[in-house]
Amino acid sequence: MKKNKISLKEIVSHAKQYGFVFPSSEIYDGINAIYDYGQYGIYLKNNIKEYWWKSMIQINKNIIGLETSILMHPKIWKASGHVYKFKEIFLSNEDTKKSYRLDLLIENYFKKNNYFKKNKDLKKNIIKYIDKKLKINEKEKILKIINKMKILNPKNKERTKWTKIYEYNLMFKIPLKEHDDVNKKFYLRPETAQGIFTNFLNVLNSSKIQIPFGIAQIGKVFRKEIIARQFIFRMREFEQMEMQFFIHPKQEDKWLEYWKKKRLRWHLSLGLGEKKYRVYEHEQLAHYANKAYDIQFKYPFGFKELEGVHSRTNFDLKNHEKYSKKKIRVFDKENKKSYIPYIIETSVGLDRIFLAVFSSCLKKETIKKERIILKIHPALAPIKAAIFPLIRDKRLMAYAKDIYKKLKIYFILTYEEKDSIGKRYRRQDAIGTPICVTIDFKTLKDKCVTLRFRDKMLQKRVLIKDLKREIKKETSMNKLLKLLI
Ligand code: GAP
Repeated sequence: MKKNKISLKEIVSHAKQYGFVFPSSEIYDGINAIYDYGQYGIYLKNNIKEYWWKSMIQINKNIIGLETSILMHPKIWKASGHVYKFKEIFLSNEDTKKSYRLDLLIENYFKKNNYFKKNKDLKKNIIKYIDKKLKINEKEKILKIINKMKILNPKNKERTKWTKIYEYNLMFKIPLKEHDDVNKKFYLRPETAQGIFTNFLNVLNSSKIQIPFGIAQIGKVFRKEIIARQFIFRMREFEQMEMQFFIHPKQEDKWLEYWKKKRLRWHLSLGLGEKKYRVYEHEQLAHYANKAYDIQFKYPFGFKELEGVHSRTNFDLKNHEKYSKKKIRVFDKENKKSYIPYIIETSVGLDRIFLAVFSSCLKKETIKKERIILKIHPALAPIKAAIFPLIRDKRLMAYAKDIYKKLKIYFILTYEEKDSIGKRYRRQDAIGTPICVTIDFKTLKDKCVTLRFRDKMLQKRVLIKDLKREIKKETSMNKLLKLLI
């Protein structure tokens, strides 16, 4: 049996052919960086969501959940710093008239330049210098140092004179009322976190929860990404799963380390392989963070950010106090003083986990013919079991339909009778179904069915009355949750 590597192109094509991910608005030629989830994609996505949600809310008694609105008071985005600081900086040049993201140009430059691998301090100093000049808006000085570094033009790999530097806010601005002009500045939220911060007092006042505690939320966010490539990795509309953990300021380091390890363990539990992950301390911090880690994943296009674990200090709550003029504090019984809590944030893109799981579980195998199998963890599999009559015989079909009817309230199943049994198995392998259940003529006598396991190259006969237990044992999400405690 030959095993081959699978390319991004094949991943995108499999996702479309088998109903996982479709380009949005495709019959109108699509729009860049926006995607729809198909019939199997949405099951897989919901399973990832459920696992994250349970791992946060169900097994941690000090974490609760919320669902806050996408549209929020415009002042929130001033207080959070997004209006002024949630920007991408671009460089352009006269030769090609094309613009490139400054941080990516610099990152690539350092990556390709061996000199900086040995001179890490110099690299850090250059980044710090550029950051400082950005903060005080000294763009000419940045252009000067960039031109001195002789950063090549990515398009033609030639030396270029960078001539312009400009900023671009990533938030979508929308008028709220029919005749409002866009300057009324309502925004589609670019992170779910702010809904949690602005409800901090509501949660505190409506529950008995005490610091340290967390609030988790899953929801859609929107960003005007300019460089939108790599399939669902970087999208303009995507879903975040965020947890904000409120702590005493003195415990910042302890909880940052705790959540970094905890989140890595969560990712490892998906069984994609330890070598696929690495943790990287951020050098260029977001405006709200004073220390941050990226959990990176080895996608088909290289190691890229999967999840961020940030210490946001009291940046957000302090600013919401200032802008809302409401006290957002808790009382420290030991020191008899009130204080603004610090926040450790874990923030992951649901679509990025989807891509990590989908891309690394697709395996190409050749036994006579080449085929692609989705070897996904059974708890995440879109369809838990497929019920087949061996052939299109009336008695077998009735028996199989009856089994499907009895079990469908417990699991997401499929029933199929078309094509040969071999073809039906292969179709289920392609969408990751862990178990196929076949009803044959022997079943009519012994009340047993044949279970075929996707990965185990194994078939076994079980009594119909034990089928529910067998499917549950194989596909239960509890198996995953147990790995976390
Ligand atoms: N609240 C903090 C925050 O939003 P971020 O690093 O900007 O931090 C967090 O985003 C996570 O959201 C990232 O680690 C990534 O998984 C996901 N993400 C960010 N931009 C994305 C995009 N354009 N498309 C898909 N996922 C994205």
